[in-house]
Amino acid sequence: MAEVTLFVIHPNERYCEQIIETLHEYDSSLYVEAIEDLREAPKRVLEEKPAAVIVGVDTASDPALKTIEAISGSGGSDVGIIVVSKQPSQELLVSCMRAGSDEFIEFPVRQEELAKTMNNLFRRKGIAAGGERKVIAVFSAAGGMGVTTVACNLAVGIGHALVGGRSCCIIDMNLQFGAVALALDIRQIRYTLVDAVREQERLDEDLLQTFMTDHPSGISVLPGPLSIADMEEMDPWRLRGVIQTCSETYQYVILDMPHVIDDSSIVGLDEADEIFLICDMVLPSIRNTIRALKTFGELGYEKEKLKFIVNRFYDSDEVSLEEIGEHVDLPLHWLVPYRSEPSITALNSGRPLLECAPKSPVTRSLQALARHTAGMKAYLKPTKKRGLFSRAR
Ligand SMILES: Nc1ncnc2c1ncn2[C@@H]1O[C@H](COP(=O)(O)OP(=O)(O)O)[C@@H](O)[C@H]1O
Ligand SMILES: [Mg+2]
Repeated sequence: MAEVTLFVIHPNERYCEQIIETLHEYDSSLYVEAIEDLREAPKRVLEEKPAAVIVGVDTASDPALKTIEAISGSGGSDVGIIVVSKQPSQELLVSCMRAGSDEFIEFPVRQEELAKTMNNLFRRKGIAAGGERKVIAVFSAAGGMGVTTVACNLAVGIGHALVGGRSCCIIDMNLQFGAVALALDIRQIRYTLVDAVREQERLDEDLLQTFMTDHPSGISVLPGPLSIADMEEMDPWRLRGVIQTCSETYQYVILDMPHVIDDSSIVGLDEADEIFLICDMVLPSIRNTIRALKTFGELGYEKEKLKFIVNRFYDSDEVSLEEIGEHVDLPLHWLVPYRSEPSITALNSGRPLLECAPKSPVTRSLQALARHTAGMKAYLKPTKKRGLFSRAR
C-alpha cells in the first residue's frame, strides 16, 4: 500500500486527537498530522498534497468553512475533504458541500462510520486499502467443511464494509450442485454463470451486470448452472475470461469453489490472488487438505497465495490446532468457531449470518475476516494459541 498522508484540521488539540486515534484504529499505517492553525492549512495542503483532510465544522459561521473553500478552490480537487461536526444539521451539510466537502460525519467519530467514509473516498481516488482488487477462491478438499458458508458471509461482509456498487461479487463455481443462490435466498434466477460463459466473447462490464443478481447487502451474485446438462458449455478458457471481466468490474471477486481439482476449478484457483483453504477439525478433512496442498505445490502455487482457515473450530480432545499445524504446513490465517445452530439457520433461511445471527461468535469471526480481507482493521483477531501461531503471518 502506498504511504497515505492525512491532515486533521481543527483548532482544538483534543478534538484532533480523538479523530487521529480513530483513524489509527481503522488503519495504523496512515500518516496523520494535526493542523491547529486554520489559516495555515490551505498552504500546507498545497505543499504536501495529503490524500484527504478531515476538518471540524460546527456552525454555519465557523471559520473552518473558509478553510475548506480555500483548499477546494486552490487546485486541490484531488484532496478528499471530510467534514466532522459536533452539531450536524441539514443546513450545515449544505454549507459544507457548497464550500467543497466530499463527506460529512458526526463527532465524536465512530470507527465504523469513519471506515466506510474512508473506504468510499479511497476507492474513488484509487488509493490505499480501497484501491486494492482481489480474486479470492474459497476452497476445501471435501464437502461439508463450510466453503459456501465462508464464501457467502465473506462476500456479504465485504459488501457491508465497502458500501457502494461494484465492491464485491460472488460466483458459484460449483457446476453441478451450486448452493450460493439458496444460501443468499435468490429465488428467481434469471441468468447464471452459463449465460456469462456463453456470451464471454462480447462480455463487458455492462453485459456482465445484466447477468448478475443484486443481493440486498449490495453485492452481486452470479449463480451456478441450473442443470447438469448446462455444464457442457463450461469451456475453461471462456470461464477464465468471465472471471477476468468480473475482476475488472468488481473490487473483490469471491469464488465459492467445488471440492474437486479439475479443468474448470483450476481456472478459478489460477485466477485467484488468494486461495482461502478451509479445513475443519475432523481427521479425513485434514488428510484431504494435506493432499490438496501437495497438488497446489504441483500446480506451482506459492505458499503466500494460500490462506489456511480452520472452520468449525472447537476445543477437541481428539484433534488439536497444534496437531493440525504439524501436518498442514501453512500458517494459520483465521479461526472460525463451531456454532451449529446459527450456521444451519443461515443456510436454511437464505439469510447471511451477519443478518440472522449478528452476535454469534461465528458471525463475529467471519465479519472480522471480511473486514481484514477488505483492508480494514478487524475487530476480532484469531485467539492466540501456542505453537501453531508462532509461525503465523
Ligand atoms: N463455523 C461453523 N460452525 C458450525 N457449523 C458450520 C460452520 N460453518 C459451516 N457449518 C455447517 O457445515 C455444513 C457445511 O457447510 P457448507 O458451507 O455448505 O460447506 P461446503 O460448501 O464446504 O460443503 C452446513 O450445515 C453448515 O451450516
Ligand atoms: Mg458448498
